[in-house]
Amino acid sequence: MADRRPYVAGNWKMYKTAAETRQYVDRLSALLPLDRTVQLGLCVPYTSIHAAVAALEHADAAGIGVLAQNMHQEPEGAYTGEVSAPMLVEAGVSGVVLGHSERRMYNGETDRALQEKLPAALEAGLEPILCVGESEEERARGETQRKLRHQVQEALERVSVERLGETVIAYEPIWAIGTGQVATADQAQEAIAFIRALVGDRSPEAAERVRILYGGSVKPDNAREIMDQPDVDGALVGGASLDPASLLEIAAAAR
Ligand code: PGA
Repeated sequence: MADRRPYVAGNWKMYKTAAETRQYVDRLSALLPLDRTVQLGLCVPYTSIHAAVAALEHADAAGIGVLAQNMHQEPEGAYTGEVSAPMLVEAGVSGVVLGHSERRMYNGETDRALQEKLPAALEAGLEPILCVGESEEERARGETQRKLRHQVQEALERVSVERLGETVIAYEPIWAIGTGQVATADQAQEAIAFIRALVGDRSPEAAERVRILYGGSVKPDNAREIMDQPDVDGALVGGASLDPASLLEIAAAAR
């Protein structure tokens, strides 16, 4: 069994101004020190990146990563409104969420763009978190595995076998995101073991290394049961991450 470091990332979505970010880090710092066995990251809006990086540097919170919630696949170019991986790296960002279902739904994010975004992120030195997951209808029709196979294979197609294990994947069933309707521990384990096997089709070694998180209505009171599953390596947390105390409770449950 590979030794995979547990990872809990808070996805703030479109919440928190720079001023609110500084307040958040102040409150977070008061609750530290952090158990370093768990990797902790904050996925913040672009406009809060600078505040988050600066505040975490000064706070007794070093070691907590700042992540972006999207990026463009090209390093630069005529792409109005977009931000590239080298720009994020320069700003002190260490990772990036790619293919979140809200971006697929509202912003036309495609598997094809993700095929370029994943290698671009790794190349620039960002740790990508690739989000995949089925809708309620797809689950009801028994198409969960078909959907996951498609999304995982498409998005990772151009990631080299050597770098496959550095990718983080988040299994986020769409019906569980922001709904309070969390997947059962068995559902999370089954889907995540399936995703690991898909990675294993390309490289058994990468499958042992790749960290796969669960996301969708993770809260302090349900986090432990899900993350106790053998293939679940942590959590991508939306709503509950907006409160630093509950994010740290979830991180403590990941040990
Ligand atoms: P949620 O969001 O925890 O609020 O359900 C998870 C996510 O969208 O990453």
